[in-house]
Amino acid sequence: MTQRNYSLAKEKIRILLLEGIQDSAVESFRKAGYSQVESVSSALPENELADRISDCHFLGIRSRTRLTASMLEKAGKLTGIGCFCIGTDQVDLAAARHQGIPVFNAPYANTRSVAELVLAETVMLMRGIPAKNAAAHRGRWQKTAKGSFEVRGKTLGIIGYGHIGSQLGILAEGLGMRVIYYDIVRKLPLGNAEPAESMNEVLENADVVSLHVPDTDATRGMIDAAEIHRMKQGAHLINASRGKVVSIPALASAIESDHLTGAAIDVFPSEPASKNEEFVSELRGCENVLLTPHIGGSTFEAQQNIALDVATKLVLYSDNGSTAGAVNFPEVTLPDHATARRIMHIHKNEPGVLQAINNVFSEAGINVAAQYLQTMPDVGYVVMDVETDDAGPVLRGLNDIPATIRTRYLR
Ligand code: NAI
Repeated sequence: MTQRNYSLAKEKIRILLLEGIQDSAVESFRKAGYSQVESVSSALPENELADRISDCHFLGIRSRTRLTASMLEKAGKLTGIGCFCIGTDQVDLAAARHQGIPVFNAPYANTRSVAELVLAETVMLMRGIPAKNAAAHRGRWQKTAKGSFEVRGKTLGIIGYGHIGSQLGILAEGLGMRVIYYDIVRKLPLGNAEPAESMNEVLENADVVSLHVPDTDATRGMIDAAEIHRMKQGAHLINASRGKVVSIPALASAIESDHLTGAAIDVFPSEPASKNEEFVSELRGCENVLLTPHIGGSTFEAQQNIALDVATKLVLYSDNGSTAGAVNFPEVTLPDHATARRIMHIHKNEPGVLQAINNVFSEAGINVAAQYLQTMPDVGYVVMDVETDDAGPVLRGLNDIPATIRTRYLR
């Protein structure tokens, strides 16, 4: 395990942003006094990434850059990672933690964008627009009111009543829909939404079922043939959550047999890695299914929110050590340290480490004005505000503790 000791001036801190992260992130860093910010419009090939990662202190990525354990081993100076997106699957989070690198993301910056798209899809599906649109492109004029319904008075069933699900419910009520929802956690209903006792109750009663659950062992394959069969004849299914929640073959077969009238799917069990790769799905050719390339949360406004949110978290971690919002790290929310010096110590969470840390301070005769500690089973993060102008002996002492992963010092 590498032990490092940082006390870098802001102008020496190098920040590399990949994959075309919005300019407002660059502006946030510059406004906070960081001048060495480079933004690259694409992901980097692996060999170039390995080269560049060894020399930067903060790295911003989106979903296409894979940070595996072996890639992170090359990141000798890396202090923090910002995933300028929602998911963090592209990073080996445990490996980052073991190297003392917190990873931040923006989990809720695109909530509204997803909710708006799903609402629009609900209207489109209830009017049979996807198939009519496809027919018109082929020169066929499907002018009919058959199978075309207003959403007013219809039932929207939401499975997963979190940030997106609950916001969708409010928007749908604005159009006069009845909203029912199911969540494994007891959730306060917003507006007139009605909680259901079970997922089956939602499936059996909704005209449109929309899924807004995370990717977990319990949700993977949660909507398979049996669940789809429980849905009302002629109902619609929307999935803009995670690709493995719905069995696509089962859905395709329910659409082909006319059990379901339509669907809108934004996420897939396997998605093309780039626009050059062909999108393959059993749903291709099902004209009453809206297929979108995982863009539920992809709007200008969401990108702006994400850029601001993640850049702010990275700046805060760099400036004051706060790890609030980190997905892989003990979370410490810290006050300003205007007068004191601040030492941040990341260590393997082993018995006796705290005592060893305190010994270093008492041997150096340095007073600790405040101490903040949070731990995870394998890693601990302790922050100490100290009253000294010469932290050198303490920093050396801390680095000599065998469990030390990294030490950082803020003047
Ligand atoms: P959230 O964490 O706020 O809400 C998820 C809800 O699902 C929670 O209330 C949770 O208790 C509930 N839940 C978990 N397991 C469940 C189960 N087995 N049955 C019923 N409910 C269950 O998450 P948020 O922000 O609302 O996002 C929902 C999903 O949307 C996530 O999977 C996220 O990755 C995805 N998403 C997709 C986007 C896209 O571009 N299509 C963009 C943003 C998010």
